[in-house]
Order: sequence, then structure tokens, then C-alpha cells
Amino acid sequence: MREKLNIVIVGHVDHGKSTLVGRLFHDTNSLPEGKFEAIKVMCEKRGMPFEWAFLMDALQAERDQGITIDTCQIWFHSKKRDYVIIDAPGHKEFLKNMVTGAAASEAALLVIDADEGMQEQSRRHGYLLHLLGIRQVAVVVNKMDKVKFSEKRFNKVKTDCVAYLESIGITASEIIPVSARDGDNIVKRSAKMRWYQGPMVVEALDGFQVPVPAADQPLRFPVQDVYKFDDRRIIVGRIEAGTLKVGDELIFSPSNKKARVKSIEAWSVSEQPSEAHVGQSIGITLDEQLFIERGHIASNGDAPPIETDVFRARIFWLGKKPLKEGNEYKLKLGPMECRVRVQSVESEISTQDLKSSKSEAIERHNVGEVIFRTPKIIALDEFVNNPRTGRFVLVDGYEIAGGGIISMEGYADQRDLITQQSTNITKVKHGIRALDREMRNNHLGGVLWFTGLSGAGKSTLAVEVERQLYKKGYQAYVLDGDNIRQGLNANLGFSPEDRAENIRRVGEVAALFSRSGVIAITAFISPYRSDRERARRAAIGYFHEIFIKADLEICEKRDPKGLYKKARTGEIKEFTGISAPYEAPETPELVIDTTDSTVQECVNKILDYVVENLGARAVREKRVRVEGAE
Ligand code: ADX
Repeated sequence: MREKLNIVIVGHVDHGKSTLVGRLFHDTNSLPEGKFEAIKVMCEKRGMPFEWAFLMDALQAERDQGITIDTCQIWFHSKKRDYVIIDAPGHKEFLKNMVTGAAASEAALLVIDADEGMQEQSRRHGYLLHLLGIRQVAVVVNKMDKVKFSEKRFNKVKTDCVAYLESIGITASEIIPVSARDGDNIVKRSAKMRWYQGPMVVEALDGFQVPVPAADQPLRFPVQDVYKFDDRRIIVGRIEAGTLKVGDELIFSPSNKKARVKSIEAWSVSEQPSEAHVGQSIGITLDEQLFIERGHIASNGDAPPIETDVFRARIFWLGKKPLKEGNEYKLKLGPMECRVRVQSVESEISTQDLKSSKSEAIERHNVGEVIFRTPKIIALDEFVNNPRTGRFVLVDGYEIAGGGIISMEGYADQRDLITQQSTNITKVKHGIRALDREMRNNHLGGVLWFTGLSGAGKSTLAVEVERQLYKKGYQAYVLDGDNIRQGLNANLGFSPEDRAENIRRVGEVAALFSRSGVIAITAFISPYRSDRERARRAAIGYFHEIFIKADLEICEKRDPKGLYKKARTGEIKEFTGISAPYEAPETPELVIDTTDSTVQECVNKILDYVVENLGARAVREKRVRVEGAE
């Protein structure tokens, strides 16, 4: 079978999309017999030059009326493979189809007029590609004839275009100067642009990768139900990707329990199969009884899905009431259903004009980028890696209110943080009560967890609080990000996974400090709520979250280490607040706004809090509580 690739062609209406498509069809000999001639005759009759756009209109009209063989798609072919152009009557339908999965395109051509250059529309289309997670993009700089095939002009458009696309995380595979009208550099190399050595448009298309077929992807078997037959438990579901064999070891996410496949139970077959494939609905039995629920995803151990309680999504909203920050909906991801809360709306894109804006709500029929939070860890995939487990539906009441695709950009897979690797370990009990240590210190142990943007004042305040607590006779010790990252966490960087591990380790260390009777003061950006909650659970009863608050603009103005400047120029990637997320605490124990306060004012507030909650009186109260219970 020939390879097939779905592509989308985007660009400003007047930049020559239809002409390019017409040319692609004609020059690759993909037009139906007589079509080109018919249009030619029609143009001559009307006394006008040949118009490629008419050809496309004619094909489109036929397609809409269902006359051509394939009613919903238009096809052309190169020597290498067939291409399907994903198209829709308007942006709204196109976006809806893409986001809900009615149509999928895996690569794109962005058409730009050489004379007019990057326009607002071109930017919006570029952003759209980013939004839909289309990573394979080539840029066609069209109408080179209008700029006399000037290399200089081409280079200018190319520079602008590359700069913009890079800023939204798209790397164009090729930037091709063409004149679609005359067929220059579409299929045949242009004699008028000898300075251009790169590929023709068709070669650029052939250079794109076709997606890995679901059958060849790692196993995804979402559990639909568990049936009990006599003493057997049959786990049923549909294989969404990969292959499942008897004897395979499966891992069920997010419980992370493992067992081997004992049998595959298929319906109405004489002999039970030893393997099952994509698209098949089957039941399986395991060699061990595990507690498995509907919505868990079975995979092979080496390529399991992501585990997280927070994710980014691009959604198409259909709800009558707008989607708003703080609202809750029902999330349906395959057979999995759970509650989901809108943590933040990052942007809203109008499907009328593709204008994108910062907003707190998404109106009906618009597209938006949203951060969602679930009450528990769930298993999912990124849409680009696995469309079937990377796409979801939102339900409001009883109505389907939206569809979306998942991206984890800026967020970590939490699987490694929650999976205990070792077995055969037994806990050792201390011979001294925490309370005894605290009575000797005359204050409680604790974790003062400072969180906030870089430059908010965490380290400055931590060090000063430590000094003044020392003077009061308190045992306190600062754990600071920049210091710990030179020792214990020297092997960690700033990827979401590394930050999560950074905070996991520090959370555990701070918990140990607090149980030894010491007050650990931690100064870490700790940008993720899930990580801070994990640190709280590690030091449960000892944990005090202190939000060191200052707006991004203030922190950027202070820029004590000159890092914001470097982040803005792109010298530092994944910088919190600029190119990586910061999730402010929702219910911290204490908020210290450093915007207009002196260091001493802030320190005093923290000291008051410590004396009140961890001081001598708190020790006496704890003693009554603990000894009363004993
Ligand atoms: S955290 O996000 O993992 O909690 P941490 O507090 O340990 O970060 O380290 C932050 C410090 O590292 C900042 O104060 C800054 O000096 C430095 N730093 C270097 N690169 C980055 C980056 N990409 N994002 C944030 N901080 C960075």
C-alpha cells in the first residue's frame, strides 16, 4: 500500500493558497482528465488569463457535491506517496475537526506573499499550527515573480518568518521561494532563482515523516470494565495502540501494578487467540488478581503513558456557557471519567478571525489553551505521540461541552516520583519521640516552605529569618535552591521532570529536618502545585507554605542575577515566568508581598508567624495533645 500523509495548507487569503494547490495538482499529474483544459477554455472564453484558483474551486465544488471518488478529501500524489489536503469551509469547522479528531493533519505548508511578507494573518496561522501540535512545517514564500526573484527580499521574509516561528516553538523544515502561478520551484526547479539550492515544494513534502501507525506504537489498552465470571476476572477493553500477547507483562496506570497476561478471551471464536491487535475489543485474564478499575490503561513496562494530575490542553468549546477559570467539568478520556477543574485559561483564539488574546474564559465556538487539574493522578498521553489516548471530551451536566488535545509542555510526567522502586524494606522506629526533641528546643520542628518567582525575595528573606531565629535561640536551617543544586541536586536541571525531582528530594530532606526538631526554611521556586503538595504530604503536620509574592514585572525589574534578561533573549530556556509555568499557591499558610515592603517588615511577619505557630506555647499545646492521647 502507498504511504498517505494528511497535510494542511494555511496562509493569508490573498497569498496564493489556491494557486499553489492548483499547481501541485497539475505539476504532479494528479488532476482528473480534461479538468485543466476545461478551465483553460473557460478562461479564454471570458477573455481572461488562466486562473489556477478556478481549478481548485471546480474541484472543491465537485467534492462538496460528492461527485469525485473521495467525497470528503482531495488528493494528489508524488512519486513517493499520496497526499490528502485537510480542508474545511471555514476556520471554525477546520479547528473543530482537528481538535475533535474528525480530521487530522500531520504536516503543514504555510504560504507567505514575498512582497507583503509576514502579516498578522501569517502569524495567526503560524500560531494555529503550534496550537494544533503540528510539528512538521515548511514555509512557501510565494509570488517571487512580484519581487523580481530577489534573493535579498526572500532572505528578509525568511528571517522574519523563522524568528516568529521559533518564538512559538516551530522549526520550519524548509523555506522555499516559489512562484506558484508559473510553477517555479513547485515540482520543477526554477531557472530564475539559481541562488536557491534547497528542495522544491514537492520534495519538502516528501521529506515529511508519515506518522507511526497505531499498530506499531507502544501498547495502549484502556480498561472498559472488569467482569467477574465464577472465580475469574476478565478485564475488557479495546486495544488503541500496539499489540498484546499472552505472557506479556502489563503495567496498569495510574496504579502502577504489574501482572502477566494469562489468556486472551475473544468473543465468538472457536479457539482463544494468543495475541490481539489495534482496534480489537477483547477481554484478558491475568496471572495475579490486581485491583483494576475502569479507565486504567494497560501498557508494556518500557513505554507506559504519562501520569499526572495537571496537563495543558487545546480545546474547542461547544458549551452554551463559556468555559471559565475555576469551573469544574467531567473529563472523558476513552473509558476514563473524572472531575476536572480549569486551573487557568492561557489564551483564547477566536475562530472568526483567529485573533488570540489573554482571557479568563472561552466563549462558545472558540479555541483555547487551558491548564486542567484533576483531583487524582490519571494516565494519559500527549496527543502528538498517541492521538487515541491524547484526546478527550468535556461534559457539562449531560452535554458534551468541548473536545481537546493534550500537551504536557511545561509540565512533568509524575510517574517516577510516585513509584517506589524497592521492595523488601522494613521501617525502623526511632527511640525518641519528636515531642521530646521539641520540648528540649522549646519550639516545634517545621518546614517553612518559601515559594515564589526568581527575584521575589525568597533567599534574602530565608537567610535573614534564619539569622534572627538563631538569635532567639531557635534551631533553624536554610535549604536554598542555588546551594542544593551544587550538591545533593547537582545532577538536576530545569526541565519539568528535573524540577519535580528537585522538589521531591528537598521536600523529603526538609521533612527529616522537621522531625529532628529543626525548622527547615526552604527557598525554592517550586513552581508546581503538585510538587509542593507532595512536599506537604512528606512533612504532614509540619508544613507551612509561605508564598513570597511579587509580580513578574517587579521580579524582572529587580533581576538580581541578570537571568530574566538572558531568558528574554532566549539564552536561558525554560525560565520560570517567561518560558516555563509558575503556579501560585491557592491556600498558603502565609503570604508575604515583597512589592513595597522592606526586608525587615517581611521578616517580622514571618517571625511573628513562627513564634505563634511553632513557639513555646505551641510546644505546650502539642504536649497536652500528644500526652492526652497516649
Ligand atoms: S525550581 O524551579 O526547581 O524550584 P530552584 O529554586 O531550585 O528552581 O532554582 C532556581 C534558581 O536557579 C533561580 O533562582 C535561578 O538563580 C537559577 N536558574 C537557572 N536557570 C533557571 C531557570 N531556567 N528557571 C528558573 N531558575 C533558574
